[in-house]
Amino acid sequence: MDRIPVFQPHIGPDVVEHLLEALDVGWLGMGATTQEFEERIADYLGLEKRFVCATNTGTSALHIALRAAGIGPGDQVITPSFNYVADHQAVRMTGAEVVMCDVREDNLGIDVAKAGDLVNEATKAIIPLHFAGLPCDLAGVRTLAAEHDLRVIEDGMHAFGSSIAGEKIGSSGDVCCFSFDPVKIITSIDGGCVVVNSEAELTRLQHLRLLGVDRDTTERYKNRRAWEYDVVSEGYRNHLTNIMASIGVSQIKRIDEFIASRQAVCKRYSEAFAEFDQLTVPYTDFDEVSPFIYSLRVPHDQREGLIAHLQDKRIDTGIHFVPVHKHSYFADAPCGDMSVTDKVVQEVLTLPLHSNMREDFVERVVDGVTSYFQ
Ligand SMILES: Cc1ncc(COP(=O)(O)O)c(C=O)c1O
Repeated sequence: MDRIPVFQPHIGPDVVEHLLEALDVGWLGMGATTQEFEERIADYLGLEKRFVCATNTGTSALHIALRAAGIGPGDQVITPSFNYVADHQAVRMTGAEVVMCDVREDNLGIDVAKAGDLVNEATKAIIPLHFAGLPCDLAGVRTLAAEHDLRVIEDGMHAFGSSIAGEKIGSSGDVCCFSFDPVKIITSIDGGCVVVNSEAELTRLQHLRLLGVDRDTTERYKNRRAWEYDVVSEGYRNHLTNIMASIGVSQIKRIDEFIASRQAVCKRYSEAFAEFDQLTVPYTDFDEVSPFIYSLRVPHDQREGLIAHLQDKRIDTGIHFVPVHKHSYFADAPCGDMSVTDKVVQEVLTLPLHSNMREDFVERVVDGVTSYFQ
């Protein structure tokens, strides 16, 4: 019986074809394929007067987005503790302090009222996460940000392709970051991007992503290096290469198929698990959600038993997340009331979810979970 992994990227012959083509070009670094990937991201999100800067990871996207937003030493940035540590590390990379906020019981997104309690004179930005692809209370976040003049840098890492009332996440508002890491809905093996509102901020991001070098785009998008350039700011090596972008291009061409197949699996799971009073299924019908993971909530005292039961059936599970305020490096970070986070992190269990997941895998997961509670 095959083991069912939590994640399984969909890598077809089309990926290999795109990769071989990119290798053939003779320019492996950032170039025309990076630009093509950025253009395809913009098209897919339906961007109007918004601009995409591709990066080598989602974490570096957050980092340069924060720097471009002017975040630095002495500033504070609010984000949920119920989040991947990439956000907290990105904030600290800028020299600012991360302030951890609680989440809501329903969509497990930031609790805007509690975030409001954490705002002070040093607060400069807020990073809401759309957990598992489910939109958080973005309208509430934007209102809070407007009241206190905060930048909003959305962590859209789990939500590439999710929409709110028909509008794709990333297509409006302030700044939004995405990840194309190995397990995301689409992957460029590692990769990410920042979406911003102005050409000036795009230019700043382009400088930050490549050592502060001016002309990183105009020349490098032509698959060649500029020998005359100026260095205009601080900068990192955070650019996305043609090779990685070629994989991203092959994947984004199939994103509708990937999302539809994942939505079908999530609907099947929720339909089967909703019958059990002990279980809490994700707070969505998945129609507008591009599901990155399927996160079920299980009574704390039954979670370990369920994990072992599923392991016996060769079904892997995951836990998203260990709350960041519990990690030793962040023990001294300012932190609000965490009553929901502290409860939820003992209940969440990530079940296998793949693009074009095998039907027999889906049914084995359904049987595995339901047989434990029956
Ligand atoms: C919520 C969240 N934020 C940020 C990141 C960082 O993205 P990357 O792995 O592309 O650096 C991840 C990656 O898993 C994530 O899940």
